[in-house]
Amino acid sequence: MSRTRHKPTLLIRLATAADLPEIKTLLETSLLPVADLSDDLMAGFQLAESDGLIGVVGLEGGGKARLLRSMAVAERAQGQGLGHRLLQAAETLASEQGAETIYLLTTTAEPFFARAGYLRVPRESAPAGLKLLAEFSNLCPSTAACMSKRLA
Ligand SMILES: CC(C)(COP(=O)(O)OP(=O)(O)OC[C@H]1O[C@@H](n2cnc3c(N)ncnc32)[C@H](O)[C@@H]1OP(=O)(O)O)[C@@H](O)C(=O)NCCC(=O)NCCS
Repeated sequence: MSRTRHKPTLLIRLATAADLPEIKTLLETSLLPVADLSDDLMAGFQLAESDGLIGVVGLEGGGKARLLRSMAVAERAQGQGLGHRLLQAAETLASEQGAETIYLLTTTAEPFFARAGYLRVPRESAPAGLKLLAEFSNLCPSTAACMSKRLA
């Protein structure tokens, strides 16, 4: 009798405060900042699970703009389209929250975001409310590329 090995189901869902420790571990493994993460921020975070946590993406800020941050896919799940799915999930959530533009800072993944329609912009051009956030003001190096995309 032959046995079929089923691929585990992929679930993308909103994070809760209970997910924070695991999210921190994935971000630290991905060499992304965690110093300013708090329970409150989890309302803007989504995660991907398939036999455990395999991806995360966060939104921070209010008003018409959001900072997209903390995007990581576990090494074992990379290169299979999950990054793009998480990015789409974050863009959908940002639209639902009434945002019109997403900004991000990246030192490692500029080509990935460029292929998803993000354009490089001067860091100073970001809205004042986002520039006050810790990622902008002290966690992300000044050499990071600042990119933005207007949501449809
Ligand atoms: C950047 C990062 C999130 C991308 O995640 P990912 O799941 O590998 O991303 P994807 O698979 O969606 O896309 C990556 C590439 O995989 C390939 N790919 C996409 N779908 C695929 C599929 N179904 N099958 C095989 N390959 C595929 C493509 O080459 C794609 O490149 P593209 O940008 O031209 O589409 C991941 O590399 C990561 O966690 N990096 C470390 C942390 C980091 O740098 N985060 C960003 C800073 S904010």
